Amino acid sequence: MSFDWKNKNVLVTGAGGFIGSHLVEALLSRGARVRAFVRYNSRNDTGLLSLLDPALLSTLEIFPGDLRDLTTVRTVAQGCDTIFHLGALIAIPYSYDHPAEVVETNVMGTLNVLQAARDAQVRRLVHTSSSEVYGTARRVPIDEDHPLQGQSPYSASKIGADKLVESFYCTYQLPAVTLRPFNTYGPRQSSRAVIPTIMVQALTRDDLRLGNLDASRDFTFVTDTVAGFLKIAETPGLEGQTINLGTGQAITIGDLAHKVIAMVGRPVRIVQDEVRLRPEKSEVQRLLSDNHKALERMGWSPLVSLDDGLSQTLKWMKSHLALYSSNRYIK
Ligand SMILES: NC(=O)c1ccc[n+]([C@@H]2O[C@H](COP(=O)([O-])OP(=O)(O)OC[C@H]3O[C@@H](n4cnc5c(N)ncnc54)[C@H](O)[C@@H]3O)[C@@H](O)[C@H]2O)c1
Repeated sequence: MSFDWKNKNVLVTGAGGFIGSHLVEALLSRGARVRAFVRYNSRNDTGLLSLLDPALLSTLEIFPGDLRDLTTVRTVAQGCDTIFHLGALIAIPYSYDHPAEVVETNVMGTLNVLQAARDAQVRRLVHTSSSEVYGTARRVPIDEDHPLQGQSPYSASKIGADKLVESFYCTYQLPAVTLRPFNTYGPRQSSRAVIPTIMVQALTRDDLRLGNLDASRDFTFVTDTVAGFLKIAETPGLEGQTINLGTGQAITIGDLAHKVIAMVGRPVRIVQDEVRLRPEKSEVQRLLSDNHKALERMGWSPLVSLDDGLSQTLKWMKSHLALYSSNRYIK
């Protein structure tokens, strides 16, 4: 029998972000009572949640705060059956300039979520890791036993957070699971990520400025990623596990840019921009997932092909271009 989300109390951290907003939408449409933890600001700005259908939004409980504040995180977690922890500072170039803030948010913030989840005696905590923790592939495809390499402060912070989750499972039997998505893309993603960066420039400029064109990535469409979040929360017996979420197919950034340019149908020149290059040893050259565990342990496999996902994303970007700036490099 499929899991019933109806009237389940669910907390989503990072709810105003790209993946979080899609996850909130999926949970609300399944009848869950969702509490959205968003980073506080004085503009009452709930991030990408403002793009959700107002009827759906009206059923959402919005809770502003900061992951670094344990008291707040404890309060928001009270009474929750499931916690999806997605809140994080995720931009790698930002982590080069602000390593302490990234560690405070991603490591201490996760520790706060773990303590709060333990106090609240949740049924399940889903922690979000990242394929960046593997660093440049030493072997492909990358399974969950691949060595972890902290090639950036962001990656190191995620490794630290993942290890804290492991420790809370081992020490306190906290029913926590770790989902490790490879690159996710789709509508609403900001242009700090490579696919929106390519699309917005290809739609509006004659030259497309990118960093390393030879790096390759395994891209999952956001609806598939959200399906993975739901499966890892629903499937019994996964406590203490870490599970990759990826398609098992990779493409270089250069080939991806050519693909998008062909879809856009304008003559656009690709230019390698020094400012966007990562320090040599920090560059993750290749990521390609082994996704067998996701299939075997929770029945997940990707449904959306790269061509289909890119065309859905491009359609959305064309109708929301005003949200994007094509001239500024966003870290
Ligand atoms: N997008 C990807 O390709 C990808 C791949 C692998 C893993 N992930 C992970 O998935 C999660 C979501 O990523 P995303 O792409 O939606 O990122 P995002 O930046 O769109 O969302 C992250 C959210 O966390 C919030 N946040 C940051 N600091 C906070 C703080 N101190 N207190 C409260 N909230 C705070 C931000 O405001 C933002 O809304 C992250 O944990 C990320 O590491 C993303």
